[in-house]
Amino acid sequence: MPKNIQIAVVGSGYVGLVAAVCFAEMGHDVICVDNDERKVKALQGGDTLIHENYLPELLQRYRNTKVRFMSDLAEATRECEAIFIAVGTPQSETGDADLSYVEAVACEIARSITSYKVIVEKSTVPVYTNEWIRRAIERNGVARDLFDVVSNPEFLREGTAVADFLHPDRIVVGADSERAAAVLGGIYAPLTEGTYYQRADAIPGSCGPTAKPPLLNTSTKSAEIIKHASNAFLAVKISFINAVANLCEATDANVEQVAIGMGMDARIGPKFLRPGIGYGGSCFPKDVAAFRSVAEQLGLDFSMLSEVEKINENQKKRFLSKVRTALWTLRGKKLGVLGLAFKGETDDIRESPAIDLVEMFLAEGCSIKAFDPAAMERTAERLPAGPKLSYVESAYAAADDADALLILTDWAEFATLDLKRLNTTLRYPIVIDGRNLYDPHVMLENGLTYISVGRPSAIPPREH
Ligand code: UDX
Repeated sequence: MPKNIQIAVVGSGYVGLVAAVCFAEMGHDVICVDNDERKVKALQGGDTLIHENYLPELLQRYRNTKVRFMSDLAEATRECEAIFIAVGTPQSETGDADLSYVEAVACEIARSITSYKVIVEKSTVPVYTNEWIRRAIERNGVARDLFDVVSNPEFLREGTAVADFLHPDRIVVGADSERAAAVLGGIYAPLTEGTYYQRADAIPGSCGPTAKPPLLNTSTKSAEIIKHASNAFLAVKISFINAVANLCEATDANVEQVAIGMGMDARIGPKFLRPGIGYGGSCFPKDVAAFRSVAEQLGLDFSMLSEVEKINENQKKRFLSKVRTALWTLRGKKLGVLGLAFKGETDDIRESPAIDLVEMFLAEGCSIKAFDPAAMERTAERLPAGPKLSYVESAYAAADDADALLILTDWAEFATLDLKRLNTTLRYPIVIDGRNLYDPHVMLENGLTYISVGRPSAIPPREH
């Protein structure tokens, strides 16, 4: 029977909050610490602050019982055996991860250690961070045998974060001590021994009742590199398929068929081969830059990652040129925009290619009516509504009297629009889709000119 462990999670952002409620769901007792009192109050009151599936249910189930929220890190350190650091590691101007929050937390933890603690890096951090944390704690007077520092990277995706946490492909534990590895093994036992999946009320996901996700024990440095290398590799896959999509456009081939054919090779796999307007979000852009910077600091050539970033930037410019080609000129054109979040099913707009494109179209003199099911409020804080930009209440309102409709985020609801209605709502029946949500033949049948990514365009006879 897995045992209940006292866990502190420092930071209540995406990773910290999800980890906190999921550890409680796995049976542990959790203290989630944040130095932002307003956040602590909101979480105590049951407000999740972020849009994430299953988070409201789990927060409701465990808040103020198995998950307590507080701002007192000293108290949490004293009470808990394992302390997970899940604070932000924003990108600095040089592309490095800014580790000042991690350092501040490490020093504060050090001041309250009186018995053995395992300090766990959950934030995405560059290789060697583990050693720096260890040094910072020792410099604050803590004896070496009173603590270990472990790297336990998180691979969750926004939108499916809870299910990803509880149904991982793998759990990576980078520990240089057996004692610390055993504590982490105990924390994840409900998953690795499969007892969690036998529960009738388990959050559904890819692991069924007989599943046991693997736990990979590595050195701390290897675990740190696994996280950066995994995210960078996924970004490589996306940029690669985007470059292939451009090649398909130039040759009238179809990137969807190409991706299916490539993905059938088990060595390549079908996932992360969806072309589009480039990757965004809080992880890939930051992690690719940080990993490149790590290589540079070590005097190594990893310029392949610079190419990945270049392709990603160009993908947005290519989309803009497509719209220009379809509409002839851009100044004064009215555009309907569907999607502002960096991907579907989230309200997160960090590094969103959709918002970059909105800014680019505004700079070209277009006027925009934008709709997003969850991200409009956040976008309006950054790009306030004005004479050239308005936020509207539906996809059809965005399309109303527009010269073209642009699909910029892959929300599921954008893939099931009433195409007949769209045709009559638009001023010109032109849809330019940066996410390949529609079959070009179906668009043609509904009288729409349809331009997508890496696939032949559908152009009704009147347009030829
Ligand atoms: C990512 C990683 O998947 C996750 O393992 C890590 O822990 C955090 O970073 P996330 O940022 O939530 O997760 O989003 P993800 O679903 O991976 O998509 C990232 C970006 O890539 C989005 O902008 C998405 O639209 C884009 N993308 C993804 C593509 O353009 N094509 C694809 O095939 C997949």
